[in-house]
Amino acid sequence: MIVHHVRGAVVGIVAVLGIVIGIVITVVYMGYAPMAADSAPSSMEANLAMKAVHAISERQMGEVTNPLPFTASNLAAGLKLYQQNCVICHGAADGKTSSIAAGFYVPSPQFAKNGTEDDPEGATYWKIHHGIRFSAMPAFMHSLKDQQIWRVTMFLKHMDHLPKPVDRAWKATKSVGGMDMATSPKMDMK
Ligand code: HEC
Repeated sequence: MIVHHVRGAVVGIVAVLGIVIGIVITVVYMGYAPMAADSAPSSMEANLAMKAVHAISERQMGEVTNPLPFTASNLAAGLKLYQQNCVICHGAADGKTSSIAAGFYVPSPQFAKNGTEDDPEGATYWKIHHGIRFSAMPAFMHSLKDQQIWRVTMFLKHMDHLPKPVDRAWKATKSVGGMDMATSPKMDMK
């Protein structure tokens, strides 16, 4: 008797799994999966993803402190790296979103308005080094040296209270790929 029940339950579970897999395959291959980047992620998706990123970066590196001395020259070098590698997605001091950043499915925070000064430097280093999966945030371990990542991390940590000369250079940083470029120039393509 019991064997019969167990067998029935197993057959039922396998059948339900088969139907679910069938639906998933149909949705994906028939073109019903929502793959466009033109909408905003639901707040549940965004919250869960951000919690996961904060949790892993803090678990692995939350306690690690910046090995570089806190100096104006390290901050200035960090600013330069930021200008070269990050402004297009995270914006300059004016906080203007570039035409590229405006189109991401997972939005890139504009750091002048929404910075990471409160995060542990180790966790920020982790995000820059490893990048963030399922988003446009690249893993800079392939293109920047450790020391460079720590410098840009130091800059992000102190972005809102920089020593005068570095602050002046930060405030003078120009946005790139501004929104006005998204609609102009109008070209006659005849
Ligand atoms: C091509 C676009 C792009 C570039 C270039 C880029 N980022 Fe990002 N970055 C993103 C996106 C998108 C996110 C948001 C990811 C998410 O919310 O899951 C992000 C997130 C981050 C975060 C996490 C923010 C938080 O709230 O925890 C940090 C830190 C960061 N980026 C630093 C940098 C630095 C430093 C550079 C340059 C060295 C850089 N990024 C270059 C797209 C980019």
